[in-house]
Amino acid sequence: MRLQTALLAALSQPWSVPAFTATSRHARHPLSRPGSTSLSMSESSDTVTLGIFGGGTVGGGIVEILANKASYFQQLTGKSIEVKKICVRDASKPRDFEVPEGCSIVTSYDDILTDDSIDLAVEVMGGTTDAKDVVFGALKNGKSVVTANKALIAKDLPEIEALLTSLEDDTQFRYEAAVCGGIPIIRSMQSDFVGDEIKKMSGIINGCTNFMLTAMDRDKKSYDEALSEASALGYAEADPTLDVGGFDARSKLKILMRLAYGIDVDEDEISCRGITELTKIDFEYAKTLGGTIKLLGVAEMSSAGHVSAYVSPCYVTDTDPLSSVNGATNAIEVGSDNLLSSIYIGQGAGRYPTANSCINDIVALAKGDKTPLPFNPSSDVSFANNYESVFFLRLNYRDQVGITRQVGEICEKHGVSIHSILQNAMANTQENAFAIVTEKVEYAAILKVMADIEALNWCKGKPFYMPVLRDDWQS
Ligand SMILES: NC(=O)c1ccc[n+]([C@@H]2O[C@H](COP(=O)([O-])OP(=O)(O)OC[C@H]3O[C@@H](n4cnc5c(N)ncnc54)[C@H](OP(=O)(O)O)[C@@H]3O)[C@@H](O)[C@H]2O)c1
Repeated sequence: MRLQTALLAALSQPWSVPAFTATSRHARHPLSRPGSTSLSMSESSDTVTLGIFGGGTVGGGIVEILANKASYFQQLTGKSIEVKKICVRDASKPRDFEVPEGCSIVTSYDDILTDDSIDLAVEVMGGTTDAKDVVFGALKNGKSVVTANKALIAKDLPEIEALLTSLEDDTQFRYEAAVCGGIPIIRSMQSDFVGDEIKKMSGIINGCTNFMLTAMDRDKKSYDEALSEASALGYAEADPTLDVGGFDARSKLKILMRLAYGIDVDEDEISCRGITELTKIDFEYAKTLGGTIKLLGVAEMSSAGHVSAYVSPCYVTDTDPLSSVNGATNAIEVGSDNLLSSIYIGQGAGRYPTANSCINDIVALAKGDKTPLPFNPSSDVSFANNYESVFFLRLNYRDQVGITRQVGEICEKHGVSIHSILQNAMANTQENAFAIVTEKVEYAAILKVMADIEALNWCKGKPFYMPVLRDDWQS
């Protein structure tokens, strides 16, 4: 429907639009990297010795699962998996897990990094500075690494890859817990799409914001109430800006894009909008349209062969599988040529879900399992910071004559065709909001429309926009 008729149609209707094979223990001097003459761990010893950096939520869970399933892991791997040292900030702090017999709590990284008897370093302390030293130090010392640290991987992926490539032996790097905690998405992306072509990934990949959006939509909580509840339940990062600003989701999306498309995109190039601009009225209009709002990370291969990506609140219809993923649960839909649609759903955070993924990596390494390339081969596919979508726009306005005409003219100027306009009955004439759904248009055009509308005297505050997840959102 082109602009003029769309406007007329919209205005004339009621608003019911529808093996670890690290070098042998005891074999090398720390910081030296002799060639790969040493035996693999699986061949050299009946014990796999761990040094864990971090004894918090995830670290504690790893220690507990290792203790609870020790004999099973022994049967499974033929080895005893022992935690020799746990490095923390404050050794005197009480721990909420039982420190294994013979395990020391240490505070110096070198206590693990330079301990030749430690085969495997598990980095679950977080951050991107000291954690980087620890991960790089361990790999350089011939210790395989298991980490849950998406921020570090997203920030330093090229450097990590370069280091892994330069290693002469078979030191391994595993990071299943880094994206969506307990969901085994990394391994799937490494192994299960080799004969397939991934066309689109759409994911609820931040549990904190999904919990908040559920609380705001279903339970009618305010933004502040939802955030404090999420923090109290441990779903928010220490700095919740990483969650509500979409940055945590963007780090995960970047890692998934590397695996799905072989490209390493500077995080800052991925359009990233969190949930801070959402208001109650957006949920009301979403409901009127027959759907809800989810914070999604989306990456898509265009027919022209470019990959585009964004993190943004998105309108999803009630019939969409992602719409019923509530609370802190995560879900990723992978659309591909052979499998069509595959949906991975589960716990994206929390002690045991996240520790579970770390344990899977640890046990696989103890078994001598070798990973496919940790980041899959790279490709020369290009990234375009632009994408096409149907968009939902919400404009707050002071009532006056000619508003819809001006909006229509601006949309027409930038080639944006309007599908429909929604307007709830006005509560007061000083502060109201109406919504527009466009036809499929370029993101770049929407930005121009938003800028022009914001400059109009009746427009109050920054106009809000979000993509509609599917082009066939009405069917
Ligand atoms: N929690 C989750 O649900 C989840 C999910 C997916 C991924 N992750 C990732 O897993 C990692 C750990 O998260 P977490 O929730 O377990 O964190 P956490 O509960 O805050 O625990 C962090 C642990 O690391 C130690 N630590 C922190 N900085 C240190 C430093 N500079 N030197 C020595 N020790 C240090 C802390 O020591 P003290 O105890 O002495 O302070 C603490 O034991 C992060 O990268 C996070 O992004 C977590």
